[in-house]
Amino acid sequence: MSERKLLVLFIGPPASGKSTVGEIVARLIQNPSNTLFIQSDTIRRMIAKPIYTKRESRAVYTAMRVLCAHFLKRGYSVFVDATFPKRIQREPFKALAKRFDALFFAFWFKCSLDTVLKRNAQRSGWRVVPSDKLIRMYAAFEEEEGLYMVDTERLSAEDAARYILQTINSIKVSQEALGESG
Ligand SMILES: Nc1ncnc2c1ncn2[C@@H]1O[C@H](COP(=O)(O)OP(=O)(O)OP(=O)(O)O)[C@@H](O)[C@H]1O
Ligand SMILES: [Mg+2]
Repeated sequence: MSERKLLVLFIGPPASGKSTVGEIVARLIQNPSNTLFIQSDTIRRMIAKPIYTKRESRAVYTAMRVLCAHFLKRGYSVFVDATFPKRIQREPFKALAKRFDALFFAFWFKCSLDTVLKRNAQRSGWRVVPSDKLIRMYAAFEEEEGLYMVDTERLSAEDAARYILQTINSIKVSQEALGESG
């Protein structure tokens, strides 16, 4: 039986640990050549001088969606690492998972405002988000049912990566069992 492909969102405020954990997940996954990691930052940095407006953000999410569709269509599993503060930003990706019959997961990287502010302050250059903006982004985050919580205050980055892969595998196995019995 061929492997069911995945569409996995890493969502959460800046400095919550999405990219750090994503790098470890990329090292640990079984089929790296069949897996795409999309980071909003990578796309945004293609703009000569990003200015973080709503319009720019919409363009970045659109580009991620197009890439995601292209690769899912060709049999890849896709991880998307972006803040995704609003439910409306996650919906099109859920729809893509449905369209391309991928198993969908959304992992919410959760930690306190204090922690993200501290981690952000330790960054340098373009990686630093202005504190007032970070506080607004943190407050604007919309929860929803079905998010898997990844607490990067309690879990080390390695343990967070293992938790994510274990969660994915256990759902995969139960889905396959359902498929075989149905
Ligand atoms: N348990 C942990 N899991 C992940 N990162 C951690 C953890 N503990 C400390 N950190 C540190 O927190 C920072 C997280 O930064 P990272 O770039 O991964 O966040 P991000 O969510 O991708 O942010 P952005 O949305 O701005 O890209 C890193 O410096 C990392 O070393
Ligand atoms: Mg990141």
